[in-house]
Amino acid sequence: MSERIGFYQDLVVSAEEAAKFVNHGDRVGISGFTGAGYPKALPTAIAEKAKAAHAAGEEFQIDVFSGASTAPDCDGVLAEADAIRFRSPYNSDPVLRGKFNDGSALYQDIHLSHSGQQVEEGFYGDFQVAIIEAVRILDNGNIVPSSAVGNNLEYIEAAERIIIEVNEWQSEHLEGMHDIYKIEKLPNRQPIPITNPGDRVGTTYIEIPQEKVVAVVKTDAPDRNAPFKAPDEVSEKIAANFINFLEGEVAAGRLAYDQFIMQSGVGNVPNAVMAGLLDSKFENIQAYTEVIQDGMIDLIDAGKMTMASATSFALSPEYADRMNEKAEKYKEHIILRPQQISNHPEVIRRVGLIASNGMIEADIYGNINSTNVGGTRIMNGTGGSGDFTRNAYISTFVSPSVAKDGAISAIVPFASHIDHTEHDTMVIITEYGVADLRGLAPKERVEKVISVAHPDYRPLLEEYYERAKQNKFQHTPHDLKTAFDFQINFAEKGDMRG
Ligand code: COA
Repeated sequence: MSERIGFYQDLVVSAEEAAKFVNHGDRVGISGFTGAGYPKALPTAIAEKAKAAHAAGEEFQIDVFSGASTAPDCDGVLAEADAIRFRSPYNSDPVLRGKFNDGSALYQDIHLSHSGQQVEEGFYGDFQVAIIEAVRILDNGNIVPSSAVGNNLEYIEAAERIIIEVNEWQSEHLEGMHDIYKIEKLPNRQPIPITNPGDRVGTTYIEIPQEKVVAVVKTDAPDRNAPFKAPDEVSEKIAANFINFLEGEVAAGRLAYDQFIMQSGVGNVPNAVMAGLLDSKFENIQAYTEVIQDGMIDLIDAGKMTMASATSFALSPEYADRMNEKAEKYKEHIILRPQQISNHPEVIRRVGLIASNGMIEADIYGNINSTNVGGTRIMNGTGGSGDFTRNAYISTFVSPSVAKDGAISAIVPFASHIDHTEHDTMVIITEYGVADLRGLAPKERVEKVISVAHPDYRPLLEEYYERAKQNKFQHTPHDLKTAFDFQINFAEKGDMRG
């Protein structure tokens, strides 16, 4: 273990000792993105400290900032101890989600490419602590980050005190996979020199201001690594529809079989899409995306994917083991970047990728709700879906047509919360087909969107549209009195059909 810690040897302490540097009211930036690369020991130690303070009648809460979601042993334990006052920029932990929804914690859900800049520019105020997981501390005190880069640079720069967790579970061979490029602050910003997903433009390590490091903690614990569900019939149909759509683009001369650059949201449906790509005619597939998922590892192993650029892994336990065994080999095909770069609008627009993300609901004109069930109950967050949707060459949303055994339709008259507007949504894909909305006025989109709804809901959506057309204004007709009937029915009767 000690050879992983080439500097700050005298600062090695237990997690409990290190937690003394975290105080009530601190703003704390942590590593971690989609269950990868988050600190494994400090969160539990901070949670214990919070519990002890609460038992003694004292206040103890901190503001927590990360790359994106973490895990039960990070957000989960802190939430259970009521140790989080404010959280940003993303969460998927169920305990913490419950706190946001019952009003006992605050959440700012923002575009993942924006969060680092807002920290750097002081929009939140001062940061007291950064807690960063590393694979190794180099002899000069700099670090090799682990399975996520996220907003590490910004938190390291902003924080007064830095705590480094060196996790022996992470493969040492991740060294060399990272590409750490720092965007200059305003007004000195320059173009980011990435024109292809495989371009390397930075260093393989993160520079650490040595004087800020107050503690180093040794860990040996896995990332969250939730397993994916095996593709079911619905996700296989969605994947087939997505690939048919791509083939249509090839036939139309807008895409070539060896020129597909993908962005893929995380989840079971995107993983099924990647399984579908394994048997497709597409070759030399590249990804300029946020997370590396199991399906991408399969595509790399099959020689179908040549390069995947992201900011973190989101692998199942089996695939995480494979990564740890063969990181040396995967380094040729995978680059992990800071999230300001992996999700940067400038690069996304330049490489011309095809984005595909999940959704909670889409309305008949193509507005998308990714975040709030029934308009008010936060699920996860917008994540990188806005970064990619707004700037993609082609933006798609992929979703089963219904949720909760048919009680919820993914296609509704009016989205009850809008993360992506009709101006950004190009294509909606369900198991019932592809609604290609490109080049269409709002009223021309309605029939296409309804055609990919579940058959149970199509007549209800058609009835709604007939009512909406009675409106005096005919550009985007709505009947405001009944526009949210689907969501109201679900809230009151447990079924959108009423
Ligand atoms: N109303 C209520 N619940 C809904 C819903 C809706 N309209 N649509 C989906 N859900 C529920 C599902 O029932 C499921 O709940 P369960 O776990 O209790 O069964 C859960 O949301 C996940 O749905 P699933 O169909 O498995 O799809 P998913 O894993 O792709 O998740 C989102 C869908 C929208 C929740 C997810 O894609 C998300 O959080 N997106 C926003 C962030 C994002 O796009 N990130 C990627 C950017 S790079």
